[in-house]
Order: sequence, then C-alpha cells, then structure tokens
Amino acid sequence: MEKVKEGDHVLLYDGRKRKFLVKAEYGRQLHTDKGIIELGELVNRIYGTKIKTHLGKEFYILKPNFEDLVYGLFERKTQVLYPKDIGYMIVKAAISNGSRVVEAGTGSGVLTAFLARAVAPDGKVYSYEVREEYIELAKRNLARVGLSESVVLKNKDVTKGIEEVEIDAVFLDMPNPWEVIPSAFHSLKHGGVFLAFVPTVNQMEKTAIRLREEGFHFVECVELMLRNYRVSVIEGVRPSTLGIRHTGYIISARKP
Ligand SMILES: C[S@@+](CC[C@H](N)C(=O)[O-])C[C@H]1O[C@@H](n2cnc3c(N)ncnc32)[C@H](O)[C@@H]1O
Repeated sequence: MEKVKEGDHVLLYDGRKRKFLVKAEYGRQLHTDKGIIELGELVNRIYGTKIKTHLGKEFYILKPNFEDLVYGLFERKTQVLYPKDIGYMIVKAAISNGSRVVEAGTGSGVLTAFLARAVAPDGKVYSYEVREEYIELAKRNLARVGLSESVVLKNKDVTKGIEEVEIDAVFLDMPNPWEVIPSAFHSLKHGGVFLAFVPTVNQMEKTAIRLREEGFHFVECVELMLRNYRVSVIEGVRPSTLGIRHTGYIISARKP
C-alpha cells in the first residue's frame, strides 16, 4: 500500500463534487467550506484512506492522475486545449512511444505535455513558439510533470520553416496553420499526419483547401461535441447546464 511522501501532490476529494489538488507539506493548511486540513498530516497516510477537517468532515486522499496534474498545476497564460480535442488528435496522429512530432505554438504547454507523455520515453516533441515568455512558461510547466527531457522547446516562428525531417506528425494550434503546410509536407515522413486546431470555420476552410492544393490526402474537418450528463436517482438524468461550449475545429490530413 502506497503512502503519501512529503512533497507529493495529493487530490483531496469529498466523495461528491469537491476536489482539491494540494501538496503534502508541513506548516501549510487547506481551507475549505467543510473545515481546515493540515497538509503536513497527509505525510505517511495511505492513498485511498480518508482524512478529517477540523470540523470532522472527511476527504479521500487520492493520487492525482496526469490530467489532474496538467490542468491543476500548469500556469495558463494562453488558451489551452482540452481532453476531448487532444484525445482525438493523438488518435488521428497515430503516435506512441518513440514517435517524433513537431508542434506549434507551445503556448502554456498543455498539448505539449500530452504529446510528450504519448511519445516518451524514446520519442521527442519539437515545440515551436514565437514568444519567449511562453517558452519560459512551458519550461516551468513541463518540469512540474517531469517531462522536460521529452521536449525540445524552440523559440522560433514556425512559418519560417520546420527544421526537423522524417517527422511522424505535426500539430498546430496557432492562428495561421495554412502558412505551415508546405514545410509540414517537406518534414513529414510518408504517411505522416498533419493536424491543426482552429477556433473559426474560416480558418478551417483555408487550411483544408491549402492541404489539398499541397498534395495531402484524407483531409478531414471535424468539430467534436461533448455533453456531460447529471445522473441522479432523485432528480433524474439530464444534460448538465454548465461546461465548456465551443472550443474549435480540427483538421487532419496525411502525407502520401
Ligand atoms: C492558443 S496558444 C497554444 C496553446 C497550447 N496548444 C496549449 O494547449 O497550451 C497559441 C500559441 O501559438 C503561438 N504562435 C502563434 N503564431 C506562431 C508562429 N508562427 N510560430 C510559433 N508560435 C506561434 C502564440 O504565441 C501562442 O503562444
């Protein structure tokens, strides 16, 4: 049975709706509407057991998963991608341990982290970003989840060219992905996959048309709809009224 070590990130969960990502550290407290928890008291507790607040309310002590860590720990200064879109993009790109992928722009590094996790330990993500402050931000964020070794951060404008060749996939989350299509075609290996995420239909159209002109095959444009449901024996089952609405469109294509 695994115990909490000092400095571990721990997910405290009330068993219903409330969850808090905290660090097991002496001298720090978590204040909740159900009372205060001394975070030092988490050290040496067994994961899966419970801890009480000073008001006697219980919270489960859980090990956070990768999604908890990325969305809980990463500083976000840009728009970031969400699981519904990232999951689809990773499946379409057909990447796994050992794959070499190019990404732009890095932004806060959320997509970068999921890509790095997919290609680690033998693969690499080459991530282009024009703004130096976002390179520094992504560097800090990736270190928080132990993925720095799998990412090469490049403070460069990707529209000026991709330096890597024989790449498995190119991921673009930036305003003008069509400007990268010729160099993506050059850098991808046979069967390599191009993916772009854009917030407007106009950008999607421009990207898809350019992909066909440049000789890509299997050009597909999609929007993914995600609907969460509330399931309650008393109140019945219905779609939740809250949640993220529009995110964007995904264009995928393959190099022949
Ligand atoms: C929406 S953010 C990317 C967010 C990222 N996918 C994430 O999940 O955290 C778009 C980023 O693209 C960068 N960018 C825009 N044009 C670029 C270019 N030509 N080359 C490299 N980066 C670029 C911007 O500076 C910005 O940081």
